[in-house]
Amino acid sequence: MTPFAELHLHLEGTLEPEMVFDLAERNAIGLPWRDLDDLRGRYSYSCLQDFLDLYYANMAVLRTEADFAELTDAYLARAAAAGVVRAEVFCDLQAHTARGVPAPVVLAGVADALSRSEADHGVSSGLILTFLRHLPVADAELAYEAALATGVELLGVGLCSTEVGFAAAPFGDLFARARADGLHTVAHAGEEGDASYVWEVLDSLGVERVDHGINAMGDRRLVEHLAEQEIPLTVCPLSNVRLQAVPTLADHPLPAMLEAGLLACVNSDDPAYFGGYLDANVAAVEQEFGLSTDQVETLAANSIRASFLPGTEKARLLHG
Ligand code: HPA
Ligand code: ZN
Repeated sequence: MTPFAELHLHLEGTLEPEMVFDLAERNAIGLPWRDLDDLRGRYSYSCLQDFLDLYYANMAVLRTEADFAELTDAYLARAAAAGVVRAEVFCDLQAHTARGVPAPVVLAGVADALSRSEADHGVSSGLILTFLRHLPVADAELAYEAALATGVELLGVGLCSTEVGFAAAPFGDLFARARADGLHTVAHAGEEGDASYVWEVLDSLGVERVDHGINAMGDRRLVEHLAEQEIPLTVCPLSNVRLQAVPTLADHPLPAMLEAGLLACVNSDDPAYFGGYLDANVAAVEQEFGLSTDQVETLAANSIRASFLPGTEKARLLHG
């Protein structure tokens, strides 16, 4: 069995409720939640924005380099237990610098844990700096420059946060610059937005991978394009259900995506908020759709193929 790569994972989305309370105490930060049960009662969402409001609020507890290192290390340990051997993780840097946490604090903590990941957990890793599309492009440019100035190695840049109503095209020059700097490019699209949002990140940002992309299925020409160009889609089934991007898991387009020959793989997005890590996401679709061992193998192989690992490493993981 081919192992899994996790390619759509927000480190901030691995902040478990218990850790919110532990870090709040350690950093002497007042929380708007009465207790753990009060917080746990808030993990149901009517849409992406509903979730993002809670996600950004909880981040207030992340203050020190050690906090970011612990968060990242806890995720890597959990991912390894889920069968992940490669993790290309997102960091929403602007959500921290906006709160007064300097970029070097955030990125040094994350990079410290990532640097020990292979030795400690058997997980190779890469860091993708995700820009927040609800903020001005100038803010993203500052974040990019601050990240480069830390000297922390980046694998790529991405785009996330509120999708509908916030154009991706204005980020085109910044993505071109990152590409010229040798970085990979990805973007969230087609999660709540329709297929036109997926076209936009392909045409204006030239991304190599689309995060979510489930609404691409409404556009036959787009599906053909994604299949022909072998553009990967990092799908997050439990996230899509919890954010009501699909009515129920039974309505999820993952089987149709595989049927259409798309390079789709399964990921956990924000596991602390959506009910499970990569293994839970795979188990959920396996059970819901009665996937065969061969189909689960396809999902694993797709994840390795869709990763930014060197070709030799992909071949080793795919063929043993
Ligand atoms: N969509 C957009 N932005 C995000 C998400 C998501 O699913 N998770 C964390 N930031
Ligand atoms: Zn995401």
